[in-house]
Amino acid sequence: MINLNESRRRILVTGGAGFLGSHLVDRLLGQGHEVLCLDNLFTGSKRNIEHLHSHPRFEFIRHDVTFPLYVEVDEIYNLACPASPVHYQHDPIQTTKTAVHGAINMLGLAKRLKCKILQASTSEVYGDPSVHPQTEDYWGNVNPIALVFSPLPPFKISGSDLTFV
Ligand SMILES: NC(=O)c1ccc[n+]([C@@H]2O[C@H](COP(=O)([O-])OP(=O)(O)OC[C@H]3O[C@@H](n4cnc5c(N)ncnc54)[C@H](O)[C@@H]3O)[C@@H](O)[C@H]2O)c1
Repeated sequence: MINLNESRRRILVTGGAGFLGSHLVDRLLGQGHEVLCLDNLFTGSKRNIEHLHSHPRFEFIRHDVTFPLYVEVDEIYNLACPASPVHYQHDPIQTTKTAVHGAINMLGLAKRLKCKILQASTSEVYGDPSVHPQTEDYWGNVNPIALVFSPLPPFKISGSDLTFV
């Protein structure tokens, strides 16, 4: 979390019209920051951010993270990705692109701007876990030949791994 004593920052929140993203946007604005909220509105909704429409430090960009983005910010929170199975299994190719290309694009932006980035992972990376709650040292229980193709576990792992490169 941001230190309240830090000066105002310009912060990019991808997936900012989603469930977690919209609350994060509220929190960051409440802390006095400027927020650039990016979303393609696949599962998110303008309703989640409509109360911010005329906020002087809020800006919305309708954009897909699988495409490059050129903006100037001080920090990035990359939350853009469908989170529930019904949504991420709806279009596995697009989910894969979002988790991998989206992470690559946002990491590239962070590299160019030399800024901090937070990459959202998911407990889905543990597959069908035998340990609850999952700890950072648990390696998971993923079925690579599952009958229902689930794009989120392998590709969220890729997005998270890229963050460590
Ligand atoms: N909700 C949870 O319990 C939970 C737990 C762990 C991790 N996460 C992760 O946190 C993030 C947010 O989850 P959420 O629950 O708020 O989900 P959500 O579906 O409400 O929000 C995701 C947002 O990303 C947007 N989005 C999807 N694909 C996009 C793309 N290609 N380009 C731009 N925007 C795109 C959607 O429109 C939506 O607004 C996800 O990455 C998810 O995997 C969520």
